[in-house]
Amino acid sequence: MSDEPGRGPADVDAYINAQLVGEDTVLAAALARAAAAGLPAHDVAPNQGKLLHLLARIAGARTILELGTLAGYSALAVAFALPPGGGLVACDVSADWTAIARRYWTEAGVADRIDLRLGPATATLAALAAEGAGPFDLVFLDADKQRNPEYLEWALRLTAPGSVIVADNVVRAGGLADAASEDPRTLGVRRFTELLGAAANVTATAVQTVGQKGWDGFVLALVEDAG
Ligand code: DHB
Ligand code: MG
Repeated sequence: MSDEPGRGPADVDAYINAQLVGEDTVLAAALARAAAAGLPAHDVAPNQGKLLHLLARIAGARTILELGTLAGYSALAVAFALPPGGGLVACDVSADWTAIARRYWTEAGVADRIDLRLGPATATLAALAAEGAGPFDLVFLDADKQRNPEYLEWALRLTAPGSVIVADNVVRAGGLADAASEDPRTLGVRRFTELLGAAANVTATAVQTVGQKGWDGFVLALVEDAG
C-alpha cells in the first residue's frame, strides 16, 4: 500500500460522494441549512446516508423507525427507499431542529411518509408499543448514545425476525474498546454492544469507519427467531 500524500479519509469521502452518491439538491440544502442554524454536526455523511438507503432497499423495508432525527438527513435518505404505502417514524427531542427536517421532507415530496414524534425517545417508544406500532423492518439508532441499551430493548420489542437494526457512532474514536472509559456515551455503546452479543435472537457485527466524520463505526444487526 503506497502512501498518497495529502489525501485523507475526508478526501476519499468527497470522491465517493462525487462518484457514487451524487448531489441530491434537497439533501445538500438540508445539510447546509442545519450547519447554518448551528445544529450539532451529527448528520450522517452522504455516503453513510446512501448506505442506510441501500440497507432499507435490500431489506425491502416498508416500515422504518429512526431515533435521533436532527435536521432530517438520514430520514430523507431512508424515506426515499420506502415503497408506496411505506412509512417512517422519526423521533427527536427538538422541535427547532426537526422544523428544518420537515421543510426538506416537504420539498422532497416525502413528508406524507414520515411520522415525526417529538419528545424523549423512551416515551415515544413506550407510546409506539402501546399503540401496537410495528413491527419495524429497519430501526436506525442515532439518538443519545448513553441510552442505547434501553433503545435496544425497545427495538427488539418493536421488530420481528428479519428486521434490521443499525446503530450509528458506536466506535467513538476507539472508545468502544476502552474498558476504563467513563464517558456516558461510550459506556452506552459498550453496554449496547455487550447486550447485542448476549441476545439470543440477534446476529450482529460492527464495522469501523473513517471519513469526513473521523474514526467511528456502526452496528448492523439482524433480528432472528427466538428459538
Ligand atoms: C455524536 C452523535 C452522532 O449522532 C454522530 O453522528 C456523531 C457524534 C456524538 O454524540 O458525539
Ligand atoms: Mg450519528
